[in-house]
Amino acid sequence: MKKIQLGDLTMNVVDEGEGKPILFVHGFPLDHRMWREQRKSFAADYRVIIPDLRGFGESDVTSGTITMAQFADDLNNLLNALKVVEPVVYCGLSMGGYIAWEFAKRYRERLAGLIVCDSKAASDSDDTRQTRFNSAKELRENGADNVVFAMMPKMFGMTTRDRNPELVEEFRQIMLKANAEGMAAGQLGMADRIDGRSLLTELNIPALLLCGEEDIISPVLEMQEMAASMPQAEFVGIPEAGHLAPLEQPVEVNNAIRKFIEKL
Ligand code: MLT
Repeated sequence: MKKIQLGDLTMNVVDEGEGKPILFVHGFPLDHRMWREQRKSFAADYRVIIPDLRGFGESDVTSGTITMAQFADDLNNLLNALKVVEPVVYCGLSMGGYIAWEFAKRYRERLAGLIVCDSKAASDSDDTRQTRFNSAKELRENGADNVVFAMMPKMFGMTTRDRNPELVEEFRQIMLKANAEGMAAGQLGMADRIDGRSLLTELNIPALLLCGEEDIISPVLEMQEMAASMPQAEFVGIPEAGHLAPLEQPVEVNNAIRKFIEKL
């Protein structure tokens, strides 16, 4: 792990391996550890860059609202600081996917390909937005416990909850230890995000959309529709996985990612 200074922000990042760069962007409220199976598999042949986003993991926490645009700018600054000039394969999960739409809008020339796992392009409904406002308030007043309790049943698929309770517990602990102010700022940023659906038709780059077939946060059907509206996207469903498919079924996910990258 390295600490990289980006203006007044210190960012924690894994930067390992050599070759074509892959940038892995974690979901909410996680950190670089959610990509550990991809780190193990891809660092042998690729340069693997896995930051903790602003407010998460061991990166600095900033208060207020962290917009998806702010996260995208941080990632661009990070790539500059790491002297990455070659276009990257961007691989984001859920919130990491929401950030991808902003990243593609702003830094299109940086992208060799786009992998979006268990995410959406649409912005929030009014109800979901209100839930995020309530959640930010709860996080600021009482910390992470209640918010994590409410999220947990949706993070892993039923197969993983049945067969791998240790993994579920490990990530519950990681979520409980996430910084509550960073989480609140991220929730407000997600509530504020753009509707990326109109961007999809213009995003003429190779893309892979992956979804755990048991994901109830970002359902398969919605991701299939997203892939269909993108000029160069393929969809791969991951059986026996939920919202955190890269952790739940790493072999299947890594095979799909590798096949996609090798074709680029
Ligand atoms: C995530 O995994 O990043 C979250 O489920 C995203 C969200 O709250 O919409």
